[in-house]
Amino acid sequence: MLAVSCVSQSADDPLTGLAVGEHPDPDVPEGWARVHVKAAALNHHDLWSLKGVGLAADKLPMVLGCDAAGVTDDGREVVVHAVVSTPGWTGDETLDPRRTLLSELYDGTLADTVVVPHTNLLAKPAALSWEEAACLPTAWLTAYRMLFTQSGLRPGDRVLVQGAGGGVATAAIALARAAGFVVWATSRDEDKRTRAVELGAHQAFESGARLPERVDAVIETVGKATWGHSLKALRPGGTVVVSGATTGSDPSADLNRIFFLQLKVVGSTMGTRDELAGLLRLCEATGVRPLVDEVLPLSDARRGFERLAAGDVFGKIVLTP
Ligand SMILES: NC(=O)c1ccc[n+]([C@@H]2O[C@H](COP(=O)([O-])OP(=O)(O)OC[C@H]3O[C@@H](n4cnc5c(N)ncnc54)[C@H](OP(=O)(O)O)[C@@H]3O)[C@@H](O)[C@H]2O)c1
Repeated sequence: MLAVSCVSQSADDPLTGLAVGEHPDPDVPEGWARVHVKAAALNHHDLWSLKGVGLAADKLPMVLGCDAAGVTDDGREVVVHAVVSTPGWTGDETLDPRRTLLSELYDGTLADTVVVPHTNLLAKPAALSWEEAACLPTAWLTAYRMLFTQSGLRPGDRVLVQGAGGGVATAAIALARAAGFVVWATSRDEDKRTRAVELGAHQAFESGARLPERVDAVIETVGKATWGHSLKALRPGGTVVVSGATTGSDPSADLNRIFFLQLKVVGSTMGTRDELAGLLRLCEATGVRPLVDEVLPLSDARRGFERLAAGDVFGKIVLTP
């Protein structure tokens, strides 16, 4: 089958380890199912794997990709949940200390077919296109959990989304608007600020800009470059929910501000199967749809990775076999 794989890793030049070519067809273990991929989406996670973060070198070559929608051997149209928990684990899959994401231990979704446990399959709503459905399991699920499970926000509350152009950030803007929050966003780029407002943000600001008022919660995936601003943006007792650190994971913690203003710092990772089911229903019920920046053939995956690495994306890049 055709697949997009990580064959070597480099922190400085991650795309040197990207290979697009033939890969052995996967076996299907007992209790697992083969999905013929109709669409798969890129995530920053795929770049981290090429940089040597989260993917052990002794697992190479590894097919990349966490997001997919497709058709099973028995003809079911499905969305794939990317969090694989240990057999017998019950409850919140993201709290399983031995959980793994597709493309970390098991081959990922950027291929003609992907093999996953039966329990990782959810029915694809007919109202969503293949490309839209493929965007949901990672960035959109992460944004859903950050907003609706971890932030403590209620309709009418004010939320700031940092780094408006990112996959998680665009999802957070669209979902927060649909949920009735007051949505503010930041971006370094004027064009992205305009597009953030078109997507649903009530106002968009330059990265680091002084805001007219403090916010109840911040959705933080950028990391070191925006962390200080995120803490300063919060009202006393507010919450910063963090699920990523693209620009570095070692900012000044600003502990004085955290304890004096009683701020909450809440980590968040991916989401559960139940949360993915909730996200699918939310998209159906509200008409909210993932923002697809570009659809490329799987064979052109390198171009998508180049755009992701350059930060030249607004929304999601989708690959179709
Ligand atoms: N924990 C989890 O489960 C989980 C799940 C999904 C993602 N993540 C992590 O979350 C992060 C974002 O993921 P993603 O897929 O949304 O990535 P992405 O699409 O590559 O997001 C990149 C965005 O980050 C912002 N950014 C980059 N460098 C910046 C800088 N120097 N200063 C300010 N902003 C900067 C940019 O916003 P502007 O250009 O608009 O300023 C850019 O659009 C990644 O680190 C990823 O690994 C974690």
